Amino acid sequence: MGKILVTGGTGFIGSHACVAFLNAGYPVVIMDNLSNSKVEAVARMELITSKQARFYQTDTQDVDGMRQIFEDNKIDAVIHFAGLKAVGESVQKPLAYYENNISGTLKLLQVMEEYHCETMVFSSSATVYGCENPVPYLEDMPTSATNPYGYTKVMIEQILRDICVANPSFSAVCLRYFNPIGAHESGLLGENPNGIPNNLVPYVAQVALGKLEKLRIFGNDYDTPDGTGVRDYVHVMDLALGHVAALEYGQKHTGFEAFNLGTGNGSSVLDVVHAYEKACGKSIPMEIVERRAGDIAISYADASKAKEMLHWEAASDLDKMCADSWRFTLQNPKGLS
Ligand code: WQD
Repeated sequence: MGKILVTGGTGFIGSHACVAFLNAGYPVVIMDNLSNSKVEAVARMELITSKQARFYQTDTQDVDGMRQIFEDNKIDAVIHFAGLKAVGESVQKPLAYYENNISGTLKLLQVMEEYHCETMVFSSSATVYGCENPVPYLEDMPTSATNPYGYTKVMIEQILRDICVANPSFSAVCLRYFNPIGAHESGLLGENPNGIPNNLVPYVAQVALGKLEKLRIFGNDYDTPDGTGVRDYVHVMDLALGHVAALEYGQKHTGFEAFNLGTGNGSSVLDVVHAYEKACGKSIPMEIVERRAGDIAISYADASKAKEMLHWEAASDLDKMCADSWRFTLQNPKGLS
């Protein structure tokens, strides 16, 4: 069995996916530029799995650095996480997002072609469903975006579709994540954002820890059961296992295929806060403030295609997601060093 290259493999989802791949017996090579993660994640995944992963600190803009990886290792498939992913930041810095996410992916695909690597599992996002589609989202719905980050996902999916038309041997499996939260149950890996978190659960975790004063809830006047935003939260380890299933699918099939990785259930902001309070045994101070620009009321998956074709479905509920998140937060109050 050849090796798999995990780009962005020290990041939140990438590191959990490496655990799943190592546990499944795949030889893993990781590349990451460490712009939003710590190399400590590699040691943690080795503690969890008792398996070694090879790490290269490089970037998808560094063609020679990527060539070196393919020279040193027979890479059979690439699991491509590396990219900038903050929606708000992408509006402020579109060039950085197009350069890093689009140009970086094109360079990666160029090196893959040079070394005859024809299988990619791509980290896409539910954000490609835009704000016009009805829920639950289905993979054949039209894609669009409302911000540069979302457009990079839409465009990279299109690039992969076109490559699969030009090269019938290529296999591209795009995984559209809904809202990944939680942490490995050991507490050794988890969400470790730099600075003030943009996303709900890492922000709530910091409030529970006492490092942030209170949670600001962005609007409670949406057309939802309790007025707060509804999302499809999925455990990061369930998501990780979805990548193993996706790679197995990609190794048996050619062509382009997109899959929703979600639970198929929606939870409101208040549902999450209450689950987190149960997990941490504390009351989370909160304040209702105005809506956040660009937010939609409701987003959740129709998860049936992944169940039928990947034989994958999410197993963990919100209580376990919050309990695992809190365990990691307590054990790593300053994140990974
Ligand atoms: C969830 C809910 C907020 C923070 C984003 C990206 C998406 C994906 C996941 C990359 C919403 C509310 C949040 C806070 C709040 N990332 N909220 N107070 O916006 O659904 O998705 O992250 O692929 O592309 O768009 O996630 O966690 O930011 O928000 O009230 O301090 O929590 O309004 O309803 P989102 P989120």
